[in-house]
Amino acid sequence: MARRRAALSTLAIHGDAEAKSVGEPVAAPICQSSTFVAPFGPSDDVLYTRHGNNPNQLRIAERLARLEGAEAAIFVASGMGATALAHLAVLRPGDHLLSADWIYGGTRRLFTEEFRHLGIDTSFVNPDKRREWRTKLRRDTRAIFVESPTNPLMRVLDVEWLALLAKEEGIPLLVDSTFASPMNFRPLEHGADVVIHSGTKYLNGHSDVIAGAVAGGEAFVLEVREKMKVWGQALDPHAAWLIERGLKTLAVRIARHNETGLAVSRWLEEQPKVRRVHYPGLASHTDYELATRVLEGFGGMVGVELAGGGRAVERFLRALRLITHAPSLGGVESLVSEPRYTSHSGLTPDERAAAGIPDGFLRLSLGLEDADDLMADLARGLAAA
Ligand SMILES: Cc1ncc(COP(=O)(O)O)c(C=O)c1O
Repeated sequence: MARRRAALSTLAIHGDAEAKSVGEPVAAPICQSSTFVAPFGPSDDVLYTRHGNNPNQLRIAERLARLEGAEAAIFVASGMGATALAHLAVLRPGDHLLSADWIYGGTRRLFTEEFRHLGIDTSFVNPDKRREWRTKLRRDTRAIFVESPTNPLMRVLDVEWLALLAKEEGIPLLVDSTFASPMNFRPLEHGADVVIHSGTKYLNGHSDVIAGAVAGGEAFVLEVREKMKVWGQALDPHAAWLIERGLKTLAVRIARHNETGLAVSRWLEEQPKVRRVHYPGLASHTDYELATRVLEGFGGMVGVELAGGGRAVERFLRALRLITHAPSLGGVESLVSEPRYTSHSGLTPDERAAAGIPDGFLRLSLGLEDADDLMADLARGLAAA
């Protein structure tokens, strides 16, 4: 009989469940060991934690591969590490990278500063101008990179269309799917070749680990692993253990983030001191139709423009009691940050406004607190704004 495919919530807890033996621990122990007893003579794969073959590292890699529907996956030391290694696995000096313009600031710096020094040139495309994807393609373009949903406008990109373009060109499409998590969107099911995550965010979900992950084909992940070894990007076993614990509740956490995200966004849209709310689950969002078609949930990330602009922000932030002013996202606790001082600090006010992020823009990462309590906190902030 064909083995029934388990649902994502079950896979997130068990992976490929095997019957357990008597006395076996239900929660996996932490193998907090840098090295392992080795056989005499030559061996193919030395067990060594920097090599990514520590049992804790392997458990979560297999778990993520199952969740993303990938042949293989690997966790590394940070989301930035994952983005860097994924690209280094497919790009060489002299190659050209085509990237969406709407990406995390750290990723942009990696491309424009570090990759440039390595002889890898990057062109940025405004995804609203679909024709640009073709006009900026070059003979030496070797990969396409996008983020979806994007930070902080929550734009949703047409991954299927981009995957067709990449296939036509015979190059891989890499998608940073951090904001969605595999519960809301699985890029490989839409034709992408590689999925990248900042595991720091939803995969772990508790704001206590820095990690990254890459999922894709077996040969590609093997190449990432080779890069990880020599660039020293392995994840610590304790961090891997915490991520395994986080993954077990990913399905229920994301379901709650989705519920709260929608409820709070709808409420925010009604508030007179709010100029605009950016949430893909709102009919007012530019990508609402696409988001409804491709996302299984709209997530817990919300962009909010205060009517009072930049001057209202500090009054708003000071009045909050529950929602914490801190960068990062995807944890159980709600956070708020200002893109003008974080992800978009490298741009002038005019450039930010042109990018749709005026002063007075706040990015909310709605956590797992009660939605009414969150709205009460936001009402406190808005009253002061
Ligand atoms: C979409 C996205 N990708 C990658 C990263 C980098 O992740 P990390 O901080 O784990 O290195 C971030 C961090 O905020 C992010 O938001």
